[in-house]
Amino acid sequence: MNVLASLAPAAAAPALAAPDGARAGVGSVLLWVALPYVAIAVFVLGHVWRYRYDKFGWTTRSSQLYERRLLRIGSPLFHFGILVVALGHVGGLLVPDAWTDAAGISEHTYHVVAVALGTVAGFCTLSGLAILIYRRRTVGPVFSATTRNDKLMYAVLALTIVLGLAATVAANIVGGGYDYRETVSPWFRSVFVLRPDAEPMAGVPVLFQLHALSALLLFSIWPFTRLVHMLTAPVGYLTRPYIVYRSRDERLGAAPPRRGWERTP
Ligand code: HEM
Repeated sequence: MNVLASLAPAAAAPALAAPDGARAGVGSVLLWVALPYVAIAVFVLGHVWRYRYDKFGWTTRSSQLYERRLLRIGSPLFHFGILVVALGHVGGLLVPDAWTDAAGISEHTYHVVAVALGTVAGFCTLSGLAILIYRRRTVGPVFSATTRNDKLMYAVLALTIVLGLAATVAANIVGGGYDYRETVSPWFRSVFVLRPDAEPMAGVPVLFQLHALSALLLFSIWPFTRLVHMLTAPVGYLTRPYIVYRSRDERLGAAPPRRGWERTP
C-alpha cells in the first residue's frame, strides 16, 4: 500500500486544488491552511520561548494544598477522560480509513466503538472540568490563586471540549451520523504531510469546523498557560524516593535500601 498516498488523499493533486480543478476560496485557505500553520508555529516556538525565559514558571501551579476533596474527584475524571479523548483523536484523525478497512474493521464497527467510547470519555472530561472550575470559583484560596491567564485558558479549553462533544452528539446520536474520516481527517493529515488541502473542510458541518478552530486557538495559547505541564508529566514521581528532611535513624524504614534511596551525607 502506498502509505503517503493513503495519508494524504490529495497528494497527487496540486495543493489547495479542488477535485474538479476549482481552487479553494481565500477565506477557506486562511482558515484551513494559514491558521493551522500559525497555530503549530506558535505552539512549538512558544514552548521553546517559555522554557528559555520562564523555566521556573513551567508548572501546574498546583492548588492541592488549598483543597483536596473536590480535586480528588475532578482531576482524575478530567485527566483520564482527556487521555481517552486524545487517543480517540489519534485513531480518528491520523489513521486513514483504508488502514482500518485493511485490518478487517468495518466502517460500522469502527463508528459504533468510536462514538460510544468518545461520548463516554467526552462526558467524563466535561464533568471533571466542571468540577475543577466549580472548585476554582467556590473555594476561596483556590479562587485567589486563579489568574486572568487561567480564566482564559479554562474558557478556551471548555469551549473546545463542549464543541467537540456537541458535534459528536449532534451528528451521531441525534442526527443520522457523519463520517468525519472522509473530510476532517484527510484535511488534518494534509497539514502534517506538508500538502495542505482546504477543500475537504468545505462542506463539513459547522460544529465540527468550530471545534477544529477552537482547538487551533487552544494550541496557540497553550505554551503561555499552565497547560505546559502536559509536556513534562512527572513520570519520575512513580519511582523517586520520598523526600526525607531529617532523620536520626541509621536505616530508613524496614525495607533494604534501594538504588536512589541512598542517604545523603
Ligand atoms: C485541530 C484539532 C482537532 C480536530 C481536527 C478535532 C476533531 C474532532 C472530531 C472530528 C471529533 C468527532 C469525533 C466523533 O464524532 O467520533 C471530535 C470530538 C471531540 N473532540 Fe476534537 N479535535 C481536535 C482537537 C481537540 C482538542 C484539543 C480537544 C480537547 C482539549 C478536543 C476534544 C474533543 C472532545 C471532548 C470530543 C467529543 C468526544 C470524542 O469524540 O472523543 N478535540 N474532535
